[in-house]
Amino acid sequence: PSLPPLIVTIDGVAASGKSSVSSGVARALGVPYLSSGLLYRAATLLGLEAGADLSEAAVLEALHTHPVRLEPLAQGNRVWQGERDLTADLHSTAVDHGVSVVAVLPGVREWVNAQLREVAPPFVAEGRDMGTAVFPQAPAKFYLTASPRVRAGRRAQERPEDVDAIEAALIRRDELDRVQSAPAPDAVVIDTGPLDLAGVIGAILERVVAVDQG
Ligand code: DC
Repeated sequence: PSLPPLIVTIDGVAASGKSSVSSGVARALGVPYLSSGLLYRAATLLGLEAGADLSEAAVLEALHTHPVRLEPLAQGNRVWQGERDLTADLHSTAVDHGVSVVAVLPGVREWVNAQLREVAPPFVAEGRDMGTAVFPQAPAKFYLTASPRVRAGRRAQERPEDVDAIEAALIRRDELDRVQSAPAPDAVVIDTGPLDLAGVIGAILERVVAVDQG
């Protein structure tokens, strides 16, 4: 009997390296990866552009009027609204702030989950609740952690900001994301603190290969 097409879930805290890790794992496996965070960001952008408050009704109305679509490329996902590529606008400060409000709206979570479940496996799915809420049947689940200090140190290398300020912001973000972000009971938890990117990808691939071979 052949195994079902593989779904790998990679969840974890903010700035744990999830998207670089997911992209690396997906490329090594030769499958796409799905960034659920980008869909939450797209919902937020549309809500903000609609000019309304970020109420559930306003955001769902915006998504209904201007449908968006995730293009799951291995080198980095893109989000389209018709012919318009939204991707570059999804990491603005306004979206960063708004997304924690939008991501707790149940109707928005259902919308994101429905988009993801339409994709045919195999793939790597990345986010906060891929292994718990969206793909509980996935045979290979991972959860990435690292201390706020370690994560802030990594972010500070990308952005010219004060490490203490970044650390404080990450601790606030952890608190806001706490509801939807917990490891699945069958997830392998990886502390990325002592590992570099290649080390995390290698640890995941080793397990995925073991699972995929039964
Ligand atoms: O991974 P990211 O930073 O792009 O995620 C953006 C926001 O969306 C963040 O506030 C957490 C939220 N999110 C979520 O609630 N569930 C997911 N599966 C992915 C992201």
